[in-house]
Amino acid sequence: MKVFRTVAEARGYRASVPSLALVPTMGAFHEGHLALMRVARESSPHVAVSLFVNPLQFGPSEDFTSYPRQEERDLSLAEEAGVEAVFVPSGDEIVGEGETEVRVLSVSQGYEGDVRPIHFTGVATIVLKLFSILAPTHAVFGLKDLQQCAVVRRLVKDLFLPIELVFLETVREPSGLAMSSRNAYLSDQDRERASTLVETLRWAAAEARREGAWTSQTYKEALMKIEAAGLVPDYIDAVDPWTMRPVQRVSDSTRLVAAARLGAVRLLDNIPVRNSA
Ligand code: PAJ
Repeated sequence: MKVFRTVAEARGYRASVPSLALVPTMGAFHEGHLALMRVARESSPHVAVSLFVNPLQFGPSEDFTSYPRQEERDLSLAEEAGVEAVFVPSGDEIVGEGETEVRVLSVSQGYEGDVRPIHFTGVATIVLKLFSILAPTHAVFGLKDLQQCAVVRRLVKDLFLPIELVFLETVREPSGLAMSSRNAYLSDQDRERASTLVETLRWAAAEARREGAWTSQTYKEALMKIEAAGLVPDYIDAVDPWTMRPVQRVSDSTRLVAAARLGAVRLLDNIPVRNSA
């Protein structure tokens, strides 16, 4: 497996392959990341992973400095997953002076966008830089970060980028808890409590299916379930996944999104209303 640390090296590699499936990541790999890498191989025999903890997408009070970094382990896991090349850019080169920002408007608003105001501009800016450097034919993202998928989809559409996007359903622990690099911050007891979020989403999805709608009664009961487990809910709602606008009538594409805090850790999850039993 090749490891590139400069834009020039990454470009040289890209010029040598006819197609490329890219999996952008911030490292600290878990089964979710590895599933994206395996799926990427279905799009192209040439799979590249980018590994960069992007300072632009962390707010001033967020965990940029403490975010788990384990490059050596990540490189061997990527190799096992059949990745051909890993791009590990330096902040100095890829962020530069930070003079240019990419802002995707309405889908960046609400939900995570309200709690983390600069987050999606940081994501869109770095993702466009990676797309520009590596010119992937395919790029793979996890639906765990639903609003990020919506932002990237809109970016690709509005900028006419010739990239086919692949979105993969969330990989979970046996308890149902969505895998996340930040789960490393949770104690065993916290992990158990954290799975209340997906349990509540599953309960709420069943209610929404039964009613054919997202009702204020379901909303209130869902909040109570989350609070009863000692989590502090940020939001729970039914949305259209591509506009990230709330919906009342549920359709085949509707998803339920939720976020809650458990101590200092933010938990984020979403599931489809249909086929989520
Ligand atoms: P990171 O959090 O490292 O996630 C990298 C990719 O893995 C994202 O597409 C994310 O949605 C996906 N992922 C995370 N947990 C998952 C799970 N349990 N199941 C399936 N996929 C999962 O997302 C980012 O990095 C960054 O914002 C990035 C896109 C790299 C831009 O900096």
